[in-house]
Amino acid sequence: TSDVNDWTRSDIYHNSFLIPPDATLDSALKLSEQNGLPPYAVSAAQAKFLYLLAKSIQAHRILEVGTLGGYSTIWFAKALPPDGEIITCEISEHYAKVAQQNIDHAGLTSRVKIVLGPAIDTLSRLHSDETFDLAFIDADKQSNVDYFIQAKRLVRNQGVIIVDNVVRSGRVADPIQSDPSVDGVRRLLQYIHNDSTVEATTMGTVGEKGYDGFLFAINKPR
Ligand code: DHB
Ligand code: MG
Repeated sequence: TSDVNDWTRSDIYHNSFLIPPDATLDSALKLSEQNGLPPYAVSAAQAKFLYLLAKSIQAHRILEVGTLGGYSTIWFAKALPPDGEIITCEISEHYAKVAQQNIDHAGLTSRVKIVLGPAIDTLSRLHSDETFDLAFIDADKQSNVDYFIQAKRLVRNQGVIIVDNVVRSGRVADPIQSDPSVDGVRRLLQYIHNDSTVEATTMGTVGEKGYDGFLFAINKPR
């Protein structure tokens, strides 16, 4: 639609001032596409926001659920100090292989650990004394609540949990709409509504990925 083109143009315009072209990131997207990965990576503008957020809290350890081709992983890894680490969960061996190539090509191998397998198994195995400063949940939306519960356990006091794709062009709020992803987001919102241990908000986004939003939550002191 013309909306999508307008908002893509808007991203291109803003990015031209704020986000320098990066051949490594471009080639990561290209390799992902060539290998048949779906175009579900966050946009450059969104990734830069996540990168700045990680820097602003001086994150040393980041947890990611859903690696895909490693695009957001690379941005997060760039926000880390040299001794920092991002652990990223991926269920698809094919996606993980492409992501590993992209991360290696970006020179970030030492800061990134891709864990292959169902994320809920990986997260359950992590000990809550290995705390993270930030978690980014961007995988199968049906499992949002399960991932969020694990992220709460694994993120430090006042640490940040971000969940991608919680607006979905407004479908989440449209009672006529129902699909597993929309329902997964609704269950997450209801879960947080009943949860006194986090504070959260939705930040709607618009740009080359259309209309969507991040859920932003902070673990209350416990
Ligand atoms: C889908 C998943 C994503 O993580 C995203 O950012 C966009 C779309 C999807 O499964 O449709
Ligand atoms: Mg996403």
